[in-house]
Order: sequence, then structure tokens, then C-alpha cells
Amino acid sequence: MVVAEGDIPPLCCQPHSSDEWWPGIVDEVDNNDVIDELARLFRSLAHTDFAGYSPIYEKLALAVAQDHDVLTFVLDSAAPTARRGRLPVLFFAATHDVILSQPTSPIAAIYRGDMNADPVAPFFQLIANDRNAIAERMRTHSVQTNEVGRSAAIAAAVARCTAGDSRPIGLIEIGPSAGLNLAFDSYRIEYTRGADVTCSTGPADSPVRLSCELRGDLDVPLLEPDLAIAARVGIDAAPIDITDPEQSRWLQACLWPGVPDRPERLAAAIKLVGATPPPIRRGDAVTELAEVMAAVPEGIVPIVIATWALAYIPTEGREQILRDVDDLGARRDLAFITLEEPRFTPWSPVVEDLPEGASVNDGTSTILAMRRWSGGMCESRILAFVHPHGRWMHWSD
Ligand SMILES: C[S@@+](CC[C@H](N)C(=O)[O-])C[C@H]1O[C@@H](n2cnc3c(N)ncnc32)[C@H](O)[C@@H]1O
Repeated sequence: MVVAEGDIPPLCCQPHSSDEWWPGIVDEVDNNDVIDELARLFRSLAHTDFAGYSPIYEKLALAVAQDHDVLTFVLDSAAPTARRGRLPVLFFAATHDVILSQPTSPIAAIYRGDMNADPVAPFFQLIANDRNAIAERMRTHSVQTNEVGRSAAIAAAVARCTAGDSRPIGLIEIGPSAGLNLAFDSYRIEYTRGADVTCSTGPADSPVRLSCELRGDLDVPLLEPDLAIAARVGIDAAPIDITDPEQSRWLQACLWPGVPDRPERLAAAIKLVGATPPPIRRGDAVTELAEVMAAVPEGIVPIVIATWALAYIPTEGREQILRDVDDLGARRDLAFITLEEPRFTPWSPVVEDLPEGASVNDGTSTILAMRRWSGGMCESRILAFVHPHGRWMHWSD
């Protein structure tokens, strides 16, 4: 793989479904242009993220993209501060939450896979019937998908950062949602090639089982069995309390229907982690990270993790986070692990050639990267190309 220092990876910066490529300039442009952009965003999601993964959302996204009234409803329902690029997934999460509250409805049966029928008509009927409930959720909630599949990538990156180093680590997650990925070492993770399990990590009897397809020739590093995780903490703008059924239903609502095993896996993780949830500080990571990192006692190596969280933080905030990491890194060893679209971690090397198998049309491009400070020296590396939900990983380091 060829890499060079720089800003935005050219091969990975095509207009994207999943986040803020669409700038928040709604008030300044003609409303029809905004509706057209929103339609394009729904279509892009259908083709890049939902196709071959969530056929129900693929169909619904294409149908919504053609419906001016529904597009207007989506636009009008969002809070003025909502990130425009997130509106389609926020809309789908809000409708899904209403559907979960109506388990006997036909659309709920279709979402669960209990009924094989075209979802479009019942979905549009739901929007007509429950406009207020959907709009209220869009105004008061944000996208908080806590995808435990990402633990497959986090485990490999932590293994890479801690290889040959017996010092205990302190995990600090930016935007952990409910904190399910702070328990990545409690899950059984199997890395597969075809039908074979190439390698695995985590307790063999864990009730949470993850499977991650390995692409490319390289195997992933595995966690040392005696890795000491001395502390775990999250900082989230709106932490989810998984012991509260209504809040954990929002996590289910953020899932995409028709993806096998995903709801069961989330429920198992909620049950496991809910027994002893990690502490999550409510706040803005931009202003709180420096203090939380500084509180990690000497002798413990801080590892800061951000997975699909920097995408929600404005550019100046991301720059501040990097400054805080580097300020501390110049004084003590630490690592910053990110699993994000490459444009949100411009400090990572630029990818000039995507390896075969790390397709940009199989989920929004997501890169696992590491910025590590050791003895006052800093290195930034790309570790892997990963499906946004951790379905597959192409290790590249
Ligand atoms: C899409 S979720 C990702 C959750 C988790 N990292 C994962 O990968 O499963 C994004 C999370 O970032 C949080 N978030 C957004 N902006 C934040 C900020 N400025 N500070 C802390 N958390 C933030 C949101 O509340 C949300 O829980």
C-alpha cells in the first residue's frame, strides 16, 4: 500500500452517505436544492451502505428519495443544530423507534423478518399516521448507534499498540454512546477467511460473539492474554444508560433492519455490559478530554479511542482533540486509536491506492488508524481498512 503524508485521502473522499459531506448551509440556499441534496443522500446511502446489507433500508431509501413530501418532512423535523448529513439515518432511527413501540404492526413484522412483504407502503403509512412521534424523536435524539462489531477492530488496534509492552493501559473513549465497545475484551471475536476461523480472541464462553471476515493476506494482531486494562472511561455528549429500557430501545432503533444477528448481538452486549456499565462522563469531549487524560495515573498508558464519533464533532473540535492528545503525548506515552472516515483524521497518512478487497462500495470508507507517542516521538499509521460496522477488515500494517 502506498501512503504519503497529507490531508484528505483522494480515493476515499467521494461524496458520502453517512455523514457531513453536505454542509449545513440550508438557510442560505434555495429549498429545492436542499431537497435535491437530501434525495441524493438517501440514494447514496441506498447504493453504498444499504445495498447487499439491509435490503429493507435500500428499498425505503430509494422510495423516500423520490418523495418530495417525505423529504420535506425529514428536513422540517430536524433540529436546527442537527448535522445535515446525518438526517437520513436519524430519520430511519426515529421511524424504527416508533415501529419498535408498535410490535404488532405489519411494518414491525417486516422489520423483524417475520413477514416477507414489500416494506414501502406500510412504511409510508406509518409516516402518515405517526408524523408527530417521528418528528419529536428527530428533534430530541441523535444517531447513537453503538456497534459492537467495531470491537473486532478495536481489539486488533489495542493489540498492535500494546505488543511487547507490559504496562497497564487506561482506556478513554470519545463518544462511546452506551460504552459497549469499552468492553471489547469481554467478547469472543472470531476472525474468519471463508468458512475457516483464522484466529480468535476473548473469552471462549462469552455470550457476545463477533465474527469479522479478514480480507487481504495479513492476519491481525491478537491481544496478549495478560493485558492489564487498569481503567475504562467514556466521554459522551448524551450517554445512553443501558439499564433504562427506553434508552436501550433507542440503541435497537439505530440498527438497520434485516441484518441477521445484529439485534441479538446488541441485546447480548447490553445484558453483559449492563451488569457493570463503564463510567461515562456526560460532556463534550472537545473540552473534557485533556482533563480525563491527565487523570490517568503515571505508569498507566492512556489509550484514547474514537469510533464513528469524530464524524459528529466539528473540524475545530477535532483539531482541539488532536492538540490535547499531542500535548500530552509529547510528555508521556499514549496512543490514539481511530476508526473513522479518513477525512475526519487528516493526521493519518493519505491512502493513494486502496488494496483490493477494501472496496469503497461496501460500506462507507472507514479506516482504522493509530497515532502513538512513545518516548516523545510520534508516529501515525494506518492499520486497516474496515467495514463501518466491523463486518470485515483488511489489515494493512
Ligand atoms: C454514532 S455514535 C458512535 C458510538 C460508538 N463510538 C460506536 O462506535 O459504537 C456517536 C456518539 O458520539 C457522541 N458524541 C457526538 N459529539 C460528541 C462530543 N462533542 N463529545 C462527546 N461525545 C459526542 C454521540 O452522543 C454518540 O453517542
